[in-house]
Amino acid sequence: MKIPKHLAVIMDGNGRWARESGLPRIAGHYEGVKRGEELVDACIELGIRWLTLFAFSTENWKRPDFEVNALMRLLEGYLRERSHLLLEKGIRVSFIGRRDRLPKGLLMEMERVEKLRPSEEKIHVILAIDYGGRDEILRTFKKISEAGLEPTEKLFNLFSDLPEAPDPDLLIRTGGEKRISNFLLWHLAYTELYFTDTYWPDFRKEELVKALEDFSRRERRFGAILQE
Ligand code: IPE
Ligand code: IPE
Ligand code: MG
Repeated sequence: MKIPKHLAVIMDGNGRWARESGLPRIAGHYEGVKRGEELVDACIELGIRWLTLFAFSTENWKRPDFEVNALMRLLEGYLRERSHLLLEKGIRVSFIGRRDRLPKGLLMEMERVEKLRPSEEKIHVILAIDYGGRDEILRTFKKISEAGLEPTEKLFNLFSDLPEAPDPDLLIRTGGEKRISNFLLWHLAYTELYFTDTYWPDFRKEELVKALEDFSRRERRFGAILQE
């Protein structure tokens, strides 16, 4: 089985999972956080070195205050209560997206967690919070122009939210929708896309392996042709 260096995931379907289980939407998010943590463990076992997770989009602010606040509290609580495991397991965490609209408490936790660097790094997990691909593209070009530089692809990568990560090899979207929803627009240029109807709270290691098996059968050409 081919293992992607960088896996990106749109964790979608929490709300529908909850509704179909007769639970409030928030219960789906709560369960979703647990699957996120399990996914990181599975990625370590499989040797995936980079994992980018879409947790909250620049468009998700359109949701009712009640749900937005619950999501912010959930993320903050998760970082506060579970971060001790990061160093133990060799997980480095960083964040992409805007920082100017997040609640103070969450921001403080993000800044604290970002400083934790395991001695032996097994995986670099990137959490996209208040992230939008278009917003990233605009912010990045602004930074390049403020530095007085002419934009190139290389400079874009360097000034973008993901200066160190290789482009994702595989994107998984759960929850049945077949769209990108403003995730990593620049970085997904040649990423293999995998869509599954499974709701995120039901996405476990077996589902990941299924996606990786599918990925292994893909022929990546990057616009070139294969040598006969
Ligand atoms: C994804 O699940 C989580 C976030 C967007 C925060 P949804 O909340 O979008 O769940 P559905 O798509 O409504 O089922
Ligand atoms: C994408 O899911 C964002 C996250 C998973 C964080 P959405 O549920 O917000 O996307 P749409 O509205 O179905 O496109
Ligand atoms: Mg959704």
